Amino acid sequence: MAKKNIGAIAAVSPIPAFIATVADKAGNSNLITISYGGIVNAVPPMVYMSVRDTRYSYPMLKETGEFVINIPGENLTEETDLCGIISASKLDKWEASNLTKIPASIVKVPMIEECPVNIECVTKHIIALGSHDIFIAEVVATHADEDVLNDENKVMIDKFKPFAFCYNAQEYWTLNRLIGHYGWAAKEAKR
Ligand SMILES: Cc1cc2nc3c(=O)[nH]c(=O)nc-3n(C[C@H](O)[C@H](O)[C@H](O)COP(=O)(O)O)c2cc1C
Repeated sequence: MAKKNIGAIAAVSPIPAFIATVADKAGNSNLITISYGGIVNAVPPMVYMSVRDTRYSYPMLKETGEFVINIPGENLTEETDLCGIISASKLDKWEASNLTKIPASIVKVPMIEECPVNIECVTKHIIALGSHDIFIAEVVATHADEDVLNDENKVMIDKFKPFAFCYNAQEYWTLNRLIGHYGWAAKEAKR
């Protein structure tokens, strides 16, 4: 198959689309959809998200350094999109999305009850990259709905039903079939 050079596009796909919650010191909170985010370190557990300084959420995040990564199931695709296309400067996104604020265990930022996985984060580094600033944070607590966990506290994708974002095409896609396990190829190679 011939390759076509489509330019210098960060076409890493799929990537997540999660709703981050942020809050200022006065306790005002907001919801912002993020797809530039993920894991950056194992021990200590660390994650990142990149945020433009023009976002309403940005000064809140800068002020407290705390945020929660709330991972939605596919039933929340519309709410996720909504929190990513409207700014809190125009409208209260808690009210518009009908999502429910619940307290986190360590950070002062609320979590979203309807999201099956919630990851509490405390920022350790902020690096300006150009269009976005990257917030690199330590995970201080993680919560999951009991009905998406197996006996070993692993999040079961078939119960949780997360979805992915395809950056290039700007589309949301489901993940609906198990096709392998980590380390599976090594076992196959020994045969
Ligand atoms: C799927 C999706 C992913 C997004 N990812 C990011 C991101 O990683 N960083 C960012 O700054 N904005 C991102 N946005 C845009 C913000 O979510 C959007 O501008 C939002 O309205 C900002 O909210 P705020 O002004 O209330 O903070 C994304 C939007 C969508 C729909």
